[in-house]
Amino acid sequence: MGQFDMVKDFFLGISRSRVSLVGGMLVTITTPFLVSFMLADTIWHIKNPYFGAAVYLALGPVFLGGLAMIFIGAFFFRGDRDVHLFTLQYLRRYFTEPDMFGRLRRNVFLIVLLTSVNFAVFSMFLYRAYHYMESTQFCGQFCHTVMQPEHTAYQNSPHSRVACVECHIGAGADWFVKSKISGARQLLAVAAGTYPTPIETPVHGLRPARETCEQCHRPELFHGDKLNVTRSFLPDEQNSTVYNVLLMKIGSAGDRTQSSHGIHWHVAPENKITYRATDYKRMVIPEVTLTRADGTQTVFRTPDADELLQETGQEDAVREMDCIDCHNRPSHIYLPADVALDRKLAEGKIPQELPYIKQQALELITVDYASTELARESITDGLTSWYKANYPQLVAEQPQLLEDAVAGVVTAYTENVFPEMNVEWGTYVNHISHGPDFDIGCFRCHDDSHESPDGKTISADCNTCHTLLAIEEENPPILKTLQGAAR
Ligand code: HEC
Ligand code: HEC
Ligand code: HEC
Ligand code: HEC
Ligand code: HEC
Repeated sequence: MGQFDMVKDFFLGISRSRVSLVGGMLVTITTPFLVSFMLADTIWHIKNPYFGAAVYLALGPVFLGGLAMIFIGAFFFRGDRDVHLFTLQYLRRYFTEPDMFGRLRRNVFLIVLLTSVNFAVFSMFLYRAYHYMESTQFCGQFCHTVMQPEHTAYQNSPHSRVACVECHIGAGADWFVKSKISGARQLLAVAAGTYPTPIETPVHGLRPARETCEQCHRPELFHGDKLNVTRSFLPDEQNSTVYNVLLMKIGSAGDRTQSSHGIHWHVAPENKITYRATDYKRMVIPEVTLTRADGTQTVFRTPDADELLQETGQEDAVREMDCIDCHNRPSHIYLPADVALDRKLAEGKIPQELPYIKQQALELITVDYASTELARESITDGLTSWYKANYPQLVAEQPQLLEDAVAGVVTAYTENVFPEMNVEWGTYVNHISHGPDFDIGCFRCHDDSHESPDGKTISADCNTCHTLLAIEEENPPILKTLQGAAR
């Protein structure tokens, strides 16, 4: 078939170079699989992270490697005959000899077709692979054990519909590249088993929160206060319900119509707050600097600031405060043990009518277990034997109560504790509050001991951030007033 001379020469060239030959084989074998898997994924959005990995991290790179080898092989061409395909002389013959020109058109057509097919597969691959690497199933499930705590907590958070990359990478090419470099490093660490357990926080390389969170949230448009009513259960026989009612002074970062005030005053454009922490965890903050719009500064320091900063060599480590200094757990929210149980009780996942369930459950879930499996067994056995011993009649008449309780208590544990990653109760501190001991979160600064030269302190007054309307009351009158008589 003379008309395929050029094509024949091309293939002949390839066949003379082993590298090209192997490349050609790889491309030919992988293309049909790659295309059909990618089509399947496009149509059915296959959620299995290992399917994605097989297609985009194994099959795809083999295809790309094959393509590259075909062309690299050209550098290893041996004789004249192999090379002449690519010489000007050879091409000129086709253009100058009339009858060859006709063939040329068809040949060019064939080559363009082949190249377009490869190009189409290539771009479709790039597009799909990009989406796969940005997907929650790749980030959250591919390294299953490693990401299990984060992925589980994320799924139970208000951000469970926000993709991991929205907070961890955000828009723009520079952070995309940065994330892929650190991602490759992390994959290696997982492969080599050298990743830390638990994963260390704070994440020091996190993109400044204002560039990610503020794509969706705009604190300058916040206004007013927010009523927080939380229900908790006492460890008594009735699992008595009590309420906390707090009016949170959410405030605003200020826009044209209102000035910044309240809790989100910190992130107003006219206020810049920087601080120095003495530890990696940013738990001890001896110095805070407030810079106002007019450039004036107030430095608040604890009495032992100089000593602490010198001892730890952190005099120069300055950080600008942003959302994450309070909202460090917007998505990976690990609850304290009693709160985890309160939530399950309030949702009815653990039956409130089972006597002493809060007390018994709390005892069982706060034991250190070596594995999730062991925890599951011990919690199940512990509850079953205790209720059989102390409430045999109830267990016999309403076995469902105990069954539900076991399931609920086990989930309260498995959603928050991950022995395989050394994530225990309280491993990840949440800065959004001050804790029962007034020593973490806001109180790293708001402890009345950070003092400016003119004697002002960062306030620990209980009404700075909230109004306490009811604390652990069974029947708070304020709730009656607020909710009306109908309840
Ligand atoms: C709403 C924003 C948001 C989303 C969505 C989100 N994260 Fe995070 N994530 C954060 C913030 C903020 C931190 C930093 C916490 C710190 O520095 O203390 C973090 C920390 C982490 C850490 C460090 C360990 C830890 O528990 O703090 C890992 C790992 C992680 N995220 C993985 C993921 C994965 C996987 C997903 C998707 C399944 C995801 N993140 C989705 C905001 C988010
Ligand atoms: C892609 C959009 C998006 C991004 C990015 C995002 N959020 Fe959200 N966030 C939401 C949505 C939507 C909700 C409301 C969810 C609901 O109420 O169910 C929410 C809710 C919240 C809440 C209220 C939670 C509650 O308990 O009611 C806080 C606080 C919050 N986000 C903080 C953050 C912080 C901090 C970041 C950055 C680390 C961030 N968000 C990034 C979309 C986003
Ligand atoms: C000084 C600490 C602090 C900083 C800094 C901060 N927040 Fe908040 N934010 C809070 C507290 C406290 C609440 C109330 C939480 C609650 O309801 O229990 C809150 C509430 C919110 C809510 C829910 C509002 C509502 O009406 O339900 C969103 C959304 C939010 N913050 C986003 C942000 C974003 C985005 C940033 C950064 C630009 C930010 N916050 C900076 C402490 C802070
Ligand atoms: C890094 C230190 C730091 C942390 C952490 C911090 N704050 Fe502040 N906060 C400040 C400083 C500094 C001021 C200004 C003090 C002054 O000028 O009197 C302030 C002022 C405030 C104000 C008064 C704003 C106004 O209307 O003038 C509120 C409310 C507040 N903070 C709430 C919180 C809450 C809630 C948290 C925890 C979720 C928190 N802060 C965490 C440093 C901090
Ligand atoms: C700098 C701000 C700030 C100051 C000062 C402050 N709190 Fe709080 N407080 C908070 C935040 C933020 C929360 C968390 C609200 C939430 O969980 O929704 C909170 C929560 C609470 C809770 C509810 C705890 C729970 O688990 O529901 C109580 C009770 C409380 N504070 C008491 C006090 C008392 C008493 C003082 C004075 C000694 C005080 N607070 C001072 C910011 C503050």
